[in-house]
Amino acid sequence: MKAQRIDGKAISDQIKEEAALEAQKLQRQGITPCLAVVLVGNDPASMVYVNNKKKACEKVGILSRSYELPEDTEEKDLLALVEQLNMDNSVHGVLVQLPLPPQIDEEKVILAVDPKKDVDCFHPLNVGLLHTGQKGFLPCTPAGVLELIERSGHTIEGKRCVVIGRSHNVGKPTAMLLLQKNGTVTICHSKTKDLKGICKEADILVSAVGKLHTVTKDMVKEGAVVIDVGMNRNENGKLCGDVDFDDVCEVAGAVSPVPGGVGLMTVAMLMKNCITAAKLQNG
Ligand code: GUN
Repeated sequence: MKAQRIDGKAISDQIKEEAALEAQKLQRQGITPCLAVVLVGNDPASMVYVNNKKKACEKVGILSRSYELPEDTEEKDLLALVEQLNMDNSVHGVLVQLPLPPQIDEEKVILAVDPKKDVDCFHPLNVGLLHTGQKGFLPCTPAGVLELIERSGHTIEGKRCVVIGRSHNVGKPTAMLLLQKNGTVTICHSKTKDLKGICKEADILVSAVGKLHTVTKDMVKEGAVVIDVGMNRNENGKLCGDVDFDDVCEVAGAVSPVPGGVGLMTVAMLMKNCITAAKLQNG
């Protein structure tokens, strides 16, 4: 069997088109959705991500305002900028790209962002709303994982779902969203015993570890849907996921590639959250 290659490009384009229609509606009401993007330092991966976010804003019709601060920025100066953006009524979303340099406490910065402008859904208030199933922002990467599964024609209800990785920003919220869709969810991590045996039971397998070769074909059930959240570089510097794509395609039913999968979805879902934020602040 040869697996379906889940097309993150097509699905993310579709979501961006939907966001663009919403942006046009807001424009007709005299509202220009606006995202402030804050980058501290010169981390090369962060620079690429931030650029992709700004380009997507342009495509969708969201104004992006860019704030590039030096590597040695003091915490108080970043907090002052966040506060200024919180107070600015023309800014609907505030995104501070992570990671931050070591002199800055990330938790403090996350707490400083106005929850109404927290388009990353990192603020504990929004995390709480998510975990209690209330309306609010959805975290971009986890929401993107769900869209990839559902828009490629797969249902979650009643399925055995396994998430490898328990990070606050990806693993845990992805598991929560799968649970809300009535999946039966297991979270695996570095201390899990018999990872292979657990993964092999999954109808839907999500890998969010950040390590090459985390998912090999002997860990995958025949016909499973496999979503790769990994962003790794191989020995030749090529961008690769956690999943051995070609091998896993021999047994899986559908696999999302890297690049061309979840990464594009994260940006598309961010656009959707910016529109939600602009509506929330003008409702
Ligand atoms: N760093 C890596 N991914 C993300 C993300 O989705 N949002 C922010 N703010 N920083 C990140």
